[in-house]
Amino acid sequence: MSRIDVRIQASAEEAVRELAGELRELIRRCQDEGRRAVLGLATGRTPLPLYSELIRLHREEELSFRNVITFNLDEYLGLPPDHPQSYRSFMREQFFDHVDIDPECTHIPDGMVPEEEVVAHCEAYERAIEEAGGIDLQILGIGRTGHIGFNEPGSPADSRTRRVALDEMTRSDAAPAFDGLAKVPTEAITMGCGTILAAARLRLMAWGANKAEILRKAFLGPVTAEVPASFLQEHEDVRLFLDGPAAGEMD
Ligand code: F6R
Repeated sequence: MSRIDVRIQASAEEAVRELAGELRELIRRCQDEGRRAVLGLATGRTPLPLYSELIRLHREEELSFRNVITFNLDEYLGLPPDHPQSYRSFMREQFFDHVDIDPECTHIPDGMVPEEEVVAHCEAYERAIEEAGGIDLQILGIGRTGHIGFNEPGSPADSRTRRVALDEMTRSDAAPAFDGLAKVPTEAITMGCGTILAAARLRLMAWGANKAEILRKAFLGPVTAEVPASFLQEHEDVRLFLDGPAAGEMD
């Protein structure tokens, strides 16, 4: 826990202002250095206020994403990119379509990759991250199972991008968005814990009391594959952005 920097704010909106500022600095510094900023992105409810703030910075303060490359954590297997619940659709609606990022520079695993090509697709995703120079800053949420990306309990610390089965708790958390559990995919492609831990900076956000218990387990408990987010305790540059209710069990 000692190395982890925890920022607690009254609201998610306040917490993301600081994180968006850090992203702005990173993007501008990379621009000055004549290289692209490589961002790891997440989907779900948690990053929504961050994406809103980044869109605001783009519109009102001329923050450009033209020199940014992105890699998303995960995608549901079996969903075409234009499916309303695909993470590709999510990213377009919530972020990409509202800023000046080059769509060619936005990477998300392909949920429709044919069965026999899944392994090669995952290896290519890893290679693309490497060729981009590695992830400068990875945005993360946390699932109630302790997952990061879709690395459910039992995922090894050195796991890489791969096909995974979704935990039942994760599927039931996603059920309202899919209009019922039966429609929630059972599998996904996710960056591995090792892929995530290779990022230079990790920034995890969590809002609301229903994340309090898993945050305590992940950051005050032992480092264990049973709580994949606990691996973050061993990374050198981690910051947690929490609202008051999420931080409720952190002391
Ligand atoms: C999303 C992802 C997941 C979510 C987590 C929390 O790309 O990788 O790990 O961050 O399931 O989801 P929300 O934010 O909806 O509570």
